Amino acid sequence: MTTDVKYNELAKELLEQLPKGAFLTVKDQDRLNTMIIGWGNISFIWQKPIFLVMVRYSRHTYQLLENAKEFTVSIPINKDLRKAIAFCGTKSGRDYDKFKECNLTAEPGKVVDTPIIGECDLHYECRVVYQQAMEPALISEDIRKKMYAEGDYHVMYFGEIVACYKKE
Ligand SMILES: Cc1cc2nc3c(=O)[nH]c(=O)nc-3n(C[C@H](O)[C@H](O)[C@H](O)COP(=O)(O)O)c2cc1C
Repeated sequence: MTTDVKYNELAKELLEQLPKGAFLTVKDQDRLNTMIIGWGNISFIWQKPIFLVMVRYSRHTYQLLENAKEFTVSIPINKDLRKAIAFCGTKSGRDYDKFKECNLTAEPGKVVDTPIIGECDLHYECRVVYQQAMEPALISEDIRKKMYAEGDYHVMYFGEIVACYKKE
């Protein structure tokens, strides 16, 4: 059973878990994948609730997201998914079916075509309304040196939150 919640109602729970890892799931036609994100935010822009995720060019997810233009973010709150987070946050969907390897259940989204992770408690379904590639010349030098030494920058995807709910 699921209960709809306002997009910012469980912001505290989201922001506490996010640095430890949340599942970013993307489906491009029959290609389904999930990866871990630790950075992002929820906000209110263009009169819309927005979930911002940041995906590096090197990720398989980046290639899928460029076509899919929608994503879900699933947050584990009560269940300990540390093993799955470690796997999905280090292995690529190019090499593994992470759902199979980690026994994760792809459950249908309510609004978007992209599934959610059934084992998680809190879910955001999003449609990309804007994206922005990072401009290397505009990043402070300390962050550039620390985070982008290899030149593998992030693309920022702003997803309108079209559904937000928790599983009981
Ligand atoms: C805690 C944690 C947070 C992470 N946050 C991000 C992130 O915000 N953006 C990103 O591009 N990669 C992030 N990663 C790395 C990706 O999850 C990892 O490279 C993954 O294997 C990519 O999978 P893919 O190639 O199937 O897309 C994070 C990893 C961990 C463990």
